[in-house]
Amino acid sequence: MRILMVTAEFAPLAKVGGLADMVAGLSAWLATEGHEVRVILPAYGVTEAPALRRATPDQAPPGLEIFELIAPEHFGDPAVYLGDDRDALRFALFGEAALAHAQADGFHPDVIHAHDWHAAAAVALPGPWTPSPPTLLTLHNIGYQGIFGLDALPDGPLREALRDPTVAEPRLNFLAAGIARATTLTTVSPTHASEILTAEYGAGLEGLLRERADRLHGILNGVDYGLWSPAHDPLIEHAYSAETPDGKAHNRAALLEALGLVVDDQVPIVGMITRLTAQKGIDLLIEALPGLVAAQEFSLVILGMGEPRYVEALRTLAEAHPGAITLLEAHDERLAHRLLAGSDLLLMPSRYEPCGLTQLYAMRYGTIPVVRATGGLADSVQHFDPATGEGTGVVFRDYDVGGISWGLGQALAWFAAPALWSRVVANAMRTDFSWAKQGPAYLALYLPSNDRLNRIE
Ligand code: GLC
Repeated sequence: MRILMVTAEFAPLAKVGGLADMVAGLSAWLATEGHEVRVILPAYGVTEAPALRRATPDQAPPGLEIFELIAPEHFGDPAVYLGDDRDALRFALFGEAALAHAQADGFHPDVIHAHDWHAAAAVALPGPWTPSPPTLLTLHNIGYQGIFGLDALPDGPLREALRDPTVAEPRLNFLAAGIARATTLTTVSPTHASEILTAEYGAGLEGLLRERADRLHGILNGVDYGLWSPAHDPLIEHAYSAETPDGKAHNRAALLEALGLVVDDQVPIVGMITRLTAQKGIDLLIEALPGLVAAQEFSLVILGMGEPRYVEALRTLAEAHPGAITLLEAHDERLAHRLLAGSDLLLMPSRYEPCGLTQLYAMRYGTIPVVRATGGLADSVQHFDPATGEGTGVVFRDYDVGGISWGLGQALAWFAAPALWSRVVANAMRTDFSWAKQGPAYLALYLPSNDRLNRIE
């Protein structure tokens, strides 16, 4: 098949969050399966004359072609998202250009696969082909919809295509426009696919999604274990695996030394690799931390950047509890890998989590996830049962201080019992969320033999 992937992020070229890893992993897997995959994303921070530039990251499989759109007027700033009204025009033009360039280049897709609101114009616009190829829109994060006033775009077909179909008030909503027009819709876990049909999780789009529920599918993200495996990860200091787990302790020691932390072996290292936003449960964490630190012994290391109010509150907590709370304000891939390898636990108290990738990576690194039962966290982590020895982590239910305290308490109790701990670690390291397992579900939705895809409006 010929697949046109339209995305704002693609690892390692442009990464803000899990979206970049997901699109890169799925695209690479599709190409190794023999499909022709053309990815298009903006070239951020490039000020050369407008053009389409081919990118060739290391080890791209044959069949995967990556193009970056150079458009200095709109993407000359190195930031992926500007966070204001300029994003409307940037990403509307990007979606339109993605289609125009593929067509001009003679690439006739069998399916157009667009990701999140930034790429939704590519499915909301009619496109240059007759008949139009089927389109698939993946919702990675319904909390960001691309809502703007009408005047964020000049009067014309782009503005019309991106109008919000869910409210009477005239405004733009990129994601809603894409949801209304895409042939097929997916989100990144089965649980989240049902969650977004409810008012609690639908972020105002639940009505529109319910109308299109027959087109909506939940597919858990896969992992590119070529990049995320402690057995051959060039970014960590000591290789290890389920069969040779000893290296983990060396990575732990190296991490502590690098961070200047003196923590004994009995005190678990709890890692967090996260955007500091409301979605990720940072408000709950901030509320719970004073009590958690007073009641239990652990050392929390948070790697991430985000909203200033969270950064400031966490800085204050870290200053008040040196050694127990460490905040690393950075986007740093190498440090992310080293934190995964060196931590004992990974905490993800998300308010909502469409899939979540870090918990999938953590399990392979023998780092036990402590997650809230929502979206892909619920679908990927199985609460450990000491009686049967089955399970891969901690799953807590309630988004409140009681919930997170109970969850962390469970993990700390198992950590203190070496036989239980080595069992849950071994279980986690054996989990397999490879794209070879998750990818075929996308192919089934792309395939033209699929009846649903043949009924194109
Ligand atoms: C978004 C979601 C996250 C998901 C990722 C990739 O970042 O918040 O849950 O794993 O997209 O699909």
